[in-house]
Amino acid sequence: MPLVTTRQLLDEAAKGGYGVGAFNVNDMEQIQAIMEAAKETNSPVIIQASRGARKFAQDNYLYHLMLAAAELYPQIPLAMHLDHGNSFETCESAIKLGFTSVMMDGSLKPDGKTPATFEENVEVTKKVADYAHERGISVEGEIGVLGGIEDGHGAGGSGLDHVTDPDQAVEFAERTGVDSLAIAIGTSHGAYKFTKKPDGSVLKMDLLIAIHKRLPNTHLVMHGSSSVPKDLQDIINQYGGKLKETWGVPVEEIQLGIKNGVRKINVDTDNRLAITGAIRKVFVESPEKFDPRDYLTPARAAMQKVVAQRMTQFGQAGHAGDYTAISIADMAKGYANGTLVTKPLIAAK
Ligand code: G3H
Ligand code: 13P
Ligand code: ZN
Repeated sequence: MPLVTTRQLLDEAAKGGYGVGAFNVNDMEQIQAIMEAAKETNSPVIIQASRGARKFAQDNYLYHLMLAAAELYPQIPLAMHLDHGNSFETCESAIKLGFTSVMMDGSLKPDGKTPATFEENVEVTKKVADYAHERGISVEGEIGVLGGIEDGHGAGGSGLDHVTDPDQAVEFAERTGVDSLAIAIGTSHGAYKFTKKPDGSVLKMDLLIAIHKRLPNTHLVMHGSSSVPKDLQDIINQYGGKLKETWGVPVEEIQLGIKNGVRKINVDTDNRLAITGAIRKVFVESPEKFDPRDYLTPARAAMQKVVAQRMTQFGQAGHAGDYTAISIADMAKGYANGTLVTKPLIAAK
């Protein structure tokens, strides 16, 4: 199947009542792990690259690896998504390269650190949405700011510093026309999200439900959604790592989110943990080994296991064959003739 848009994947997920994992990649082995997991579970999938990933791998390597994935797994609907675009220019360059969807994270200024004003966010996100939709490409916006910091991206601080205001979410969706909306409900990027198993005082599922009630037709996106499982932390520490005790987002909370409008779930950290644990194990148990394949093969297998598990838990497993790809040109026509224009159905407060 050619690369498809995230909008199509999320529309289908909404019809089927499931969520779609969006997994971050930086290299070939991570793409291979995700595609094998998708094949194993028969899942549609979103593969995403951050600005840091584009810099690390270089755009052309990334794009051609994605084309290889689409060619090798014709049965899997696959979207290629830009994670946390920081400006119109970053999104434009991703679209010109061939990404089928972009996130314009206007919740932060282009420095990727300072919270932007609501008006700044609306202005840049609408500009990206207009440009992208003319070309059939889907757009994710963000309202509210996540906690933590990844590779220079993020405001730092707690996930509770800038949670999403439901009224602003409604106005933002209406004024920008985004296809999906990332909201801040207390999660953070990275491994250190919560100091104990999160309850409603730090992970605001009630806020998510309130936003979904106001915007029942808008696909919601949960960032910072790694579960940071204890067994993956333990493997790293058992083989010489020094992770401090930490908690992620429990899978059952994500599943509650999926029942309440969450269609895209971003996971990066869990895969980083799985890869690092597997490599550390080989280094400690077989210090005589020096062929990268000796540690990259178990690392790739460890990531595949996590991704396949999440695909099953999010409900996307089994849905790869439900539909055929809508071409990017037809998506563009849909935005132009109004059939794809997101008109949020706003429910009363
Ligand atoms: O947004 C966070 C993702 O985990 C990507 O992280 O910016 O370090 O590539 P990164
Ligand atoms: P995690 O750090 O929880 O995996 O979040 C990833 C993410 O939100 C990427 O945009
Ligand atoms: Zn994110």
